[in-house]
Amino acid sequence: MKVAVLDLKAEYAELREEILPALDRVCRNAAFVLGEEVEAFEKEFADFCGTKHCVGLSSGTAALHLGLLALGVQADHEVITTPNTFLATAEAITYCGAVPVFVDIDPATANLNPKLIERAITPRTRAILPVHVYGRPADMDAIREVAVRHNLRVLEDAAQAHAARYRGRRAGALAHAGVFSFYPTKNLGAYGEGGALTTDDDQVANFARAARSHGQTARYEHEFVGYNYRMQGFQAAVLRVKLRRLYAWTARRQEIAREYRRLLAGARLEIPADDPRDECVYHQFVIYVSNRNAVVTQLATREIETVVHYPRPVHLQPAYSSLGLPPGTFPLAERACERALSLPLHPGLTPEQIQYVAKAVREIVGEK
Ligand SMILES: Cc1ncc(COP(=O)(O)O)c(C=O)c1O
Repeated sequence: MKVAVLDLKAEYAELREEILPALDRVCRNAAFVLGEEVEAFEKEFADFCGTKHCVGLSSGTAALHLGLLALGVQADHEVITTPNTFLATAEAITYCGAVPVFVDIDPATANLNPKLIERAITPRTRAILPVHVYGRPADMDAIREVAVRHNLRVLEDAAQAHAARYRGRRAGALAHAGVFSFYPTKNLGAYGEGGALTTDDDQVANFARAARSHGQTARYEHEFVGYNYRMQGFQAAVLRVKLRRLYAWTARRQEIAREYRRLLAGARLEIPADDPRDECVYHQFVIYVSNRNAVVTQLATREIETVVHYPRPVHLQPAYSSLGLPPGTFPLAERACERALSLPLHPGLTPEQIQYVAKAVREIVGEK
């Protein structure tokens, strides 16, 4: 039985009757960049997250960049973040001329460990950038507490966490501002690149609205040198169709995760823990195994696709070799990257596929 990590073709087949008229509306209005669809999506997504503002942008990376600038991150500042993330989290810090300062993860959750933040703070520290990795909320109360004590700003990287909840509140509404990616593979994915910044802060939102469009505050009035980071009408139109499904899709992801946990209980592997007060949205279902390469190969021979998130932590990527952080600097993130394996999880998985995957994993890794 073939099991893919994702099936965007099947998803399109389900949505086609709604997507095509939505794209047609964009063409008929010729609102290809920003425009009505983007404004409508911004309003709907802000309501969804429970924030005052949502600013539609061209990617999650653009949203991280503008979010950091809006919070005052400048050249020579430091921003504290996790090494267990996609490179974009650190890149956005570098775009500001600032320096990413990593702290190790809590192995139980794979997220940044708030207990380690304080010792990484220096007079140059301006902000903390936690990532809700795999869709599991970082411990935001503990992070906010440190931020308040040291007068730091907090930006949430919620690129993998659409609809996640922390203590009842949605990702994107848990800090000074939140960042989302709508890359096609995300839980809420566009049909191309897209991103958004969410915030309750008028100044942050106003800055991002101007900065995404060459620093314009009115047509051809350029207050400052900005960027071309605008969201496209087509992407907003697709996202509006999919947003209506997001509750149901998220509930299905959570149900599949519970089923995997049940079927894998007692097998020789570990699974990051969920806090019962929060809601993980399972962008990835990650297991930790000791002999990962062999597991990947054996699953592939049974036509089960897997992905590794992430094979190397950011501080060990060649792109950040200039930071001079050798292997062993963040042992828990490094260990996670050596063992993490993402199993197929998307709302279209059938009960038979879930059982097939779990049974195969169990047979391959053995019992505890
Ligand atoms: C944690 C994280 N941050 C940032 C990004 C960047 O988003 P985008 O690809 O939309 O620029 C991603 C996307 O892969 C991500 O997973």
